[in-house]
Amino acid sequence: MYYYDIQGIKLTDLAARFGTPLYVYDADKIIEKISVLRQSFDGINLKIKYACKANTNISILKLMHKHGVEIDVVSPQELELALKAGYKGEQVTFTPSGVSFDEIETAIEAGAKINLDNLDVLEKFGQKYGNSIGCLIRIKPHVFGGGNEKIMTAHPESKFGISIHQKEEILAVVEKYNIKVIGLHQHTGSDVKNADSFTQAASAILDLAFSFKDLEIIDLGGGFKVAYKEGDVVTDMEEVGKVLGGAFLDFCEKYGKPLQLWFEPGKFLVSESGTFLSTANVVKKDPVKTFVGINSGLNHLIRPMMYAAYHDIFNASNADNSVQDSYRVVGYICETDTFSFDTEGKPNERLMNKVEAGDIIAMKNAGAYGFTMSSNYNARFKPAEVMVYEGKAHLIRKRETMEDILRNQVEIEL
Ligand code: LLP
Repeated sequence: MYYYDIQGIKLTDLAARFGTPLYVYDADKIIEKISVLRQSFDGINLKIKYACKANTNISILKLMHKHGVEIDVVSPQELELALKAGYKGEQVTFTPSGVSFDEIETAIEAGAKINLDNLDVLEKFGQKYGNSIGCLIRIKPHVFGGGNEKIMTAHPESKFGISIHQKEEILAVVEKYNIKVIGLHQHTGSDVKNADSFTQAASAILDLAFSFKDLEIIDLGGGFKVAYKEGDVVTDMEEVGKVLGGAFLDFCEKYGKPLQLWFEPGKFLVSESGTFLSTANVVKKDPVKTFVGINSGLNHLIRPMMYAAYHDIFNASNADNSVQDSYRVVGYICETDTFSFDTEGKPNERLMNKVEAGDIIAMKNAGAYGFTMSSNYNARFKPAEVMVYEGKAHLIRKRETMEDILRNQVEIEL
């Protein structure tokens, strides 16, 4: 369940060499996930579009590119990173939510495919581009799925996409400007463990697809759930591949044309590749519990505090499990930043091999939405990042310094 090395390099050696707090990514794990996804959709004209919001380190983007994975971006800045990593504009999909039309124009100028997520923007797109270029439309299929309400995106109350109940309005705008709709898109949510949610969403989109004549793409988003702990229910990729792949092939036959099936996973590709390493600053015995205070906090890995997300935590300095204790793992930030949540979403204690100050405390599943959601709260530096690639550890982002904290601050005379 726990591991003490990545591709033969000890976690404690990585911590000693690069310092902590540190994000470490195992490139092999990412490559393995790419191939699992491909195998699940064997026989389908599949395109994987990595949702790079999960981890925008340019070396990760380059790794995806090298392995034939295309990319989904949500901002002009992610678009720039993708281009810098070697992607051609046409390999990029821009799937923003509620952005200004300027941003959409920027992405179109770069050659990216565009996912339009509201009627207003569809109208503007029609006025400006008519049928000179194609677009995709993001549909909200009114389906429930996702790990918690912050990351559920397809239900009726969600802000994302155009409601499937507005089909007539969509078609009216498309007809008015003769818009070339080349694809329909939907994204159910994140941490979707139930294959039924994907099936419901897919069947809603595929039904709607018959109303469009120029389709080339069906994009079913991301959200596949990975294991956060032993025995966790995960998306059964084989089943999803069989059911969705089958429904997609049936659809293509009825539609009379072979389309491309797109997915845009983030977590599925990168979550398990990442380990977050920190150092135990203090072990503090309280009358009822023992805290381990680490040199990190919600500024570096906010998922537990934001979603009560479960991350496996273990003592990387001590593999001997003959002496264990229960610890509440907390950060050094000036508000309660507990890392150890239980499976019910409550802060709790974790059984760990005996911890002493100075030990390296590791957290699993830190490859997705870890560094990308980090901040400089309490004026702390963001962590460094390392990728273990072909048996060697490479620094892929330097630790910040005081210069980074001050870079854009403007001191005035007072
Ligand atoms: N496509 C769209 C349109 C999305 O909004 C997202 C994620 C994805 C794909 C990728 O979803 P994934 O495969 O990574 O589940 N910060 C949260 C997750 C937010 C997901 C936002 N959108 C977390 O740490 O759990």
